[in-house]
Amino acid sequence: MKRIADASLKHLNSFSVEARARQLIELTSEQDLQAFISEHRFDAKRDVILGGGSNILFARDIEGSVVLNRITGKKIIEESNNETLVQAHAGENWHKLVLWCLDQGLYGIENLSLIPGLAGAAPMQNIGAYGVELADVLDSVQAVDLKSDQTCEFNLPECQLGYRTSRFKSVDAGRYLITGIRMRLHRTFTPNLAYKGLAEELASMDIDTPTAQQVSEAVIRIRQRKLPDPKAVGNAGSFFKNPVVSRETADALAEKYEAMPVYQVEEEAKLSAAWMIEECGWKGRSVGGAAVSEQHALVLINKGDATGTEILALAEAIQSSVQNRFGIKLQPEPLIIR
Ligand code: EPU
Repeated sequence: MKRIADASLKHLNSFSVEARARQLIELTSEQDLQAFISEHRFDAKRDVILGGGSNILFARDIEGSVVLNRITGKKIIEESNNETLVQAHAGENWHKLVLWCLDQGLYGIENLSLIPGLAGAAPMQNIGAYGVELADVLDSVQAVDLKSDQTCEFNLPECQLGYRTSRFKSVDAGRYLITGIRMRLHRTFTPNLAYKGLAEELASMDIDTPTAQQVSEAVIRIRQRKLPDPKAVGNAGSFFKNPVVSRETADALAEKYEAMPVYQVEEEAKLSAAWMIEECGWKGRSVGGAAVSEQHALVLINKGDATGTEILALAEAIQSSVQNRFGIKLQPEPLIIR
């Protein structure tokens, strides 16, 4: 187990903001995990478990430990006629896992190509993009209960996945160290082209019957065009969730703002946070070292030397603009350490 005292977290968060941890603990093997469980008293008020750092904003230092679970490994554990169960340890890079599954001829997560972060963080916020979310393929989550030190497993309903949420992010935040995930994938490829822009991208590539690899390629092209690369420009993807509101609220807004995109979700409606932010004039605007991306209004960026507090101040200014104009309170998507 690697331990570093007074560690910088700058290279461990995709916003690339400076923050320090009293101790950084890195787990790279099963033995490390066992030693960590027996030696360390985890306190969610003081300590933080960090995945790839692509969905977190540090607006202060960490008084306790930051724990990195970097245990890797992936394998097929069960095959039946129509489904294949794939197991990945939490430390696997998500995008590499998607590509590995494609190489194995296993389909279902190609629309989730190029999402930054590690496999263990995928269930935390039920990662989703281009018409697919983890909930569509997740079988179960393996974890350690940091209260009782017991290993445990959650089946899909027990994970309580919702739009960008789960029990691990809400009621049980800070309680479990996710050690692995299992997904049910398919040997037969059925493209999911529900997201309009994906079908359009494939058409622009002159493809009408795409393979799974081509769907993955199209998703990568869209992401590279629309979203700044966190390796080049500090960001955490969408900073806010798209608000889910009642049909009545959405209808009243759509009547007032004709161009406002509204998506039906079961009995409710989802509004476009990006559209509202752009409408309030924020796209491309800077406040100190923080800015709203020129590529996508939902993405806040670190222009180079922003602090977490500056990014948070920008987020709060956007929230109050949107609240004043549309009467809607935007909810942040990343975990904010304040
Ligand atoms: N739009 C604007 N201005 C912009 C960008 C978008 O007005 O600068 C409007 C357009 O009308 C566009 C609509 O917003 O049609 C939707 O934009 P987009 O298709 O890019 O999707 P999104 O709702 O902004 C969500 C996810 C993304 C995911 C995409 C594609 C959330 C919070 N974000 O964004 O996820 O990649 O859909 O499925 O649900 C992430 O979570 O980090 C993330 C990038």
